[in-house]
Amino acid sequence: MKLKVSVIGTGYLGATHAACMSSLGFEVIGVDVDAAKIELLSASKVPFYEPDLEDLLQKEIASGRLTFTTDFNAIADVDVHFICVGTPQKADSLAADLKYVDAALDAVAAICKPGALVVGKSTVPVGTAARLRERLLKINPGADLAWNPEFLREGFAVEDTLRPNRLVVGVTSDAAEAKLKEIYASNLAENTPWVRADLPTSELVKVAANSFLATKISFINAMAEVCEAAGGDVTVLAKAIGYDPRIGNRFLQAGIGFGGGCLPKDIRAFMARAGELGADQALEFLREIDSINLRARQRVIELVRRDLSDNLAGKKIAVLGAAFKPDSDDVRDSPALDIAAQIAAAGATVTIHDPKAIAPARKRFPALGFSEDIEGALEGADLVLHLTEWKIYRELDPAKMAKLVANPIMIDGRNALDREAWIAAGWKFRALGRAN
Ligand code: UGA
Repeated sequence: MKLKVSVIGTGYLGATHAACMSSLGFEVIGVDVDAAKIELLSASKVPFYEPDLEDLLQKEIASGRLTFTTDFNAIADVDVHFICVGTPQKADSLAADLKYVDAALDAVAAICKPGALVVGKSTVPVGTAARLRERLLKINPGADLAWNPEFLREGFAVEDTLRPNRLVVGVTSDAAEAKLKEIYASNLAENTPWVRADLPTSELVKVAANSFLATKISFINAMAEVCEAAGGDVTVLAKAIGYDPRIGNRFLQAGIGFGGGCLPKDIRAFMARAGELGADQALEFLREIDSINLRARQRVIELVRRDLSDNLAGKKIAVLGAAFKPDSDDVRDSPALDIAAQIAAAGATVTIHDPKAIAPARKRFPALGFSEDIEGALEGADLVLHLTEWKIYRELDPAKMAKLVANPIMIDGRNALDREAWIAAGWKFRALGRAN
């Protein structure tokens, strides 16, 4: 008999996890307190843009294995409950807000059967899993709790969930590990590395991984600052150091830096937690990683002022990209949207194009200008900013685009466009970390 699974919290992580678990043959019930979200998902609609997810959702719902509900009683006889709710940054501090995780634990503890395993996947401050396990056992002594951090990237969520590069399980018993091995049997058959850890280590693996990635990006953006000062080229530098396999060339794309719902809040929550543990000195460097990251946004705005004028009032600026990265409509802490909003606040008329993120961007900043087509955004622009590296922007014809704008000035905030091609078509071309 296959185990029955529930997924509590149906955002990016939960909706993807639920559909993927169903595609592995498990009977899955997704639960969320947000009735509108459950209604959409039940109708096979994904409330955000994630390649391949809607197709998979449709297929799995049609198979009869996957259902969604707002009723926790519907998951009372489930064997394994995955907690996938969000842990956003608190409004008044750097720390993570655990109210959704706590509420999910209480809700599942109240109804789960003896022998059930609750598995946390949300990103939490170290120590949370042990605390939740204690709480669960107090309410429901026959149940157990494990932690199983998730490393999926937005834009590759289905692929990363079905074929993770490693599986990390924080457990306190062999029985809990055995149950998780049953869940991930197909990955184990494909030799996916399996790391058994204690609860605190499993929580730390997640934030350590995201801190390392953030550090890699801010490292190359720091090199970009030095290249600019010294007349070097950060794209050549990144390529050259990346050939060293100890360094590797991934996550060395210099530009306007990292954003999204994970990296920025995770490094901040990690610092806050280390402070509580008396280990704040160990993570002092993350403060610098955060400020290098935020500085990149200011450096783009300085380039705009240098080319146009200190006073941006009345200038017409086209912005290509609003999402925090391509293949996503997520605008949470998006560097692109932040830059667009700051330039608009400085008096410029900003028109933003994005293939998927216009609706969420408009919701956040209703006063900004938006265009559904690239031409509409570029029409009469004094300057163009390329801020999210969607493939369609790399495929633009610079000569055709030059005819649309008032001034052919391109600032490539992602170092992703073909500089020579744009210059050949008559554009003044600027980029972070390269001679400008
Ligand atoms: C990140 C991690 O990569 C995942 O492993 C993790 O599971 C996830 O957070 C999470 O904690 O849930 P994600 O937020 O989808 O995934 O985005 P990334 O692909 O890591 O990109 C983050 C940001 O870094 C983006 O704004 C991207 O534009 C920027 N970036 C990335 C750079 O500026 N330069 C690079 O070389 C790479």
